[in-house]
Amino acid sequence: MARAFRLSLGAAAAVSAYMLFEAQWLRVGRRRLPLPGLPPSLSGLKILHASDLHAGAPGFNDSAIRKFAAAAAALEPHLILFTGDMVDKQHDLRPYLELLERLRAPGGKFAVLGNHDHGLWKTVIQDLLGRLAGRGTRVQVAVPAAEAAMTAATTGRLLARAGVRLLENECVSIDFGDARIQLCGIDELQYGLADLDRVRAELDREAPLRILLSHSPEAGLLVEAGDFQLVLAGHTHGGQICLPHPSRGKIPLSYSGSSFGDGLHRLPATTMHVSRGVGTTLVPLRLLSRPEVTLLELVPATAGGDTPPTGGGAEI
Ligand SMILES: [Fe+2]
Repeated sequence: MARAFRLSLGAAAAVSAYMLFEAQWLRVGRRRLPLPGLPPSLSGLKILHASDLHAGAPGFNDSAIRKFAAAAAALEPHLILFTGDMVDKQHDLRPYLELLERLRAPGGKFAVLGNHDHGLWKTVIQDLLGRLAGRGTRVQVAVPAAEAAMTAATTGRLLARAGVRLLENECVSIDFGDARIQLCGIDELQYGLADLDRVRAELDREAPLRILLSHSPEAGLLVEAGDFQLVLAGHTHGGQICLPHPSRGKIPLSYSGSSFGDGLHRLPATTMHVSRGVGTTLVPLRLLSRPEVTLLELVPATAGGDTPPTGGGAEI
C-alpha cells in the first residue's frame, strides 16, 4: 500500500514537472493562409498573431514571453497583432514593457483587451466556484464597473508606452504599399463590452483587406458576409490543461464551453484564427496545449476554390 502510494506520488510529481515545462515550451507556428478577395499587392503580408501574454501573473510566464519576443524579432513580421489578456497583474511590468517596446513591425503593433486586462479574471474564479458549488449556483465575486474601467485604462496607458496601439471598438487604416488595410478591434465580448455595431458602422468596406481583433472567439459567429475576411482571437488557451482522448484527440479541462478550439476555422462569413496564447492563467501549467505564437502569411485564394492552409512550426 505504501509502495503504491509512493508510486502515485512520484507519477503525480513527474506529470506536474512536465506540465510546468510544457507551459514554457513555446511553439512558433507558420501558416500560409489563402484569403478570398486579397489583392496581389497584399500577397505575402506577414502577420504575427500573439495572444494571452498574461504578463505579471505568478508563475513562469516570463520565460514564455521572452521566447515570444525573441521569435517576433526573428520572424520580421509586417504587423504584430495581440488578441487580449496582455496583463494579468499590474505590478512591476517594466521588463514586459521593454520587451514589447523593442518589437519592430513596419505596419505597427496593435491590441485589444481581454477579460484579465479589465480585472475581470475574478469572474473566472466566480465561474469555477459556481461549478464546484453545484449546477446553477452562482458565487458572487463582483468586479465593480469603475474598477474594471480603471484597470483597462491603466493597461491601455502601459501598452501605449510600449508603442502598442489599443483598439477599443474602433478601426484604423494602415497603408501597405499601394493597398489599404482596415484593422478593427472590439472590446471584451464575453462581459458585454464589445460594440460590433459601432465597428461595423466605422468599417471601410472598400479596403481590400479587413481584419477584426477580438479576445473572445465567439465574435466569429457575429461577423456577417462582407465585413471581415479575417478574425483573430484568443482567450481559450487551447484548454490550457487537456486530457488525451482516444477518438477526440484531447478534452480541454478549462474553457470547454467555447464554440471554438485553437487553430484555423473556416466560417460561413469569415476565416478565424484562434491562438492558444503565450502565457497561462490561474495555474502555471499546460498539458497537450503548448503556448504558441503564429506567423500568418496571407496569399490570395485561387478563383477555383480555397487551398488548405499549411502548418509547420519551430520549437523554442
Ligand atoms: Fe487568457
